[in-house]
Amino acid sequence: MSRLLSGIKPTGDIHIGNYFGAMRQFLDLQNEFENFIFIADYHALNQLQDAKELSKNILEIAKAYLAIGLDPQKVTLFKQSDVPEVTELAWIFNCLTPIAELQRAHAYKDAVAKGSPINMGLFDYPVLMAADILMYNADVVPVGADQKQHLEMAQDTAKKFNKVFGEVFKVPKERILASVATVPGLDGRKMSKSYKNTIGLFDSEKDVLKKVMTIKTDSKGANEKKDPAADNIFALHKLFATPEELKELERAYKEGGISYKESKELLGIRINNFLQPIRERKLELDVNEEKIKEILVAGAKKAKSEAVAMMKKIREKIGVEI
Ligand code: TYM
Repeated sequence: MSRLLSGIKPTGDIHIGNYFGAMRQFLDLQNEFENFIFIADYHALNQLQDAKELSKNILEIAKAYLAIGLDPQKVTLFKQSDVPEVTELAWIFNCLTPIAELQRAHAYKDAVAKGSPINMGLFDYPVLMAADILMYNADVVPVGADQKQHLEMAQDTAKKFNKVFGEVFKVPKERILASVATVPGLDGRKMSKSYKNTIGLFDSEKDVLKKVMTIKTDSKGANEKKDPAADNIFALHKLFATPEELKELERAYKEGGISYKESKELLGIRINNFLQPIRERKLELDVNEEKIKEILVAGAKKAKSEAVAMMKKIREKIGVEI
């Protein structure tokens, strides 16, 4: 069975961009692959340095994985930090990675452009991510488009190590779904925690309705013809409407049969219908945190045994086993 691996960083509320870009793929593929899905807590640390908040966010991601329907019998769910071998591998990869390559990474370049303070964790982020992926010999890594460059760096790292020390790593493939590669946020930019333009997977009904009403539109009146391709409300409808509902909405847009306000109200209802069962499962998980921790411990045990075996091979290849 081929292996699937992916992770999410616990830096804030999980949102529908994460869901459609990545998590939905985890769900759809859980029967087809051997799955390793983790919480990238060490990746979060370069950004979030508040112990209470980090712990809360870690649990939140675990709840999200379970609330959307990932089955811990089919998916090894674990915390990145429970497998410290990954940071050991990141060191080995550091020694193979030219600084110039990391200077080309988007996240680093964005931070430089913004003049934000940059720690080594942010600079080295793609190397730790390569270690996450290559440690478990993943075949497929489902992600959103913003992770493409990181995947390319992981592929390059696998090839480089294999060339220098001999064949150890598989070269993994990214799996990015074109229609949801970049889910737009409330302001039309990529939905992202850092832009504060998200609809949270666990947002309340009221919050969703309130947020949806803030989506920016052009100034066309209720009866004017509208271009669905140019409207962000419509772009979000695509995620939640059935094909028939979407066709109907498209017709109404083109004929001037719907106002933006009505379209927003309809979108709010559709999002809430979609989120309701996820919210309900989350409530059950909130009173069952011990069970969640047990799932993560069991997952870590399995992931760690894979990592220990892999590190043995790697240590032999690089020459530190004498
Ligand atoms: P993170 O936590 O930023 O996002 C988690 C996943 O959600 C996807 N995503 C989106 N997809 C479509 N539209 C959007 N607006 C959107 N926003 C987020 C991301 O592409 C990602 O798939 N570096 C990773 C975490 C990570 C990882 C890994 C992933 C660490 N190690 C190894 C895969 C394999 C990150 O920060 O994702």
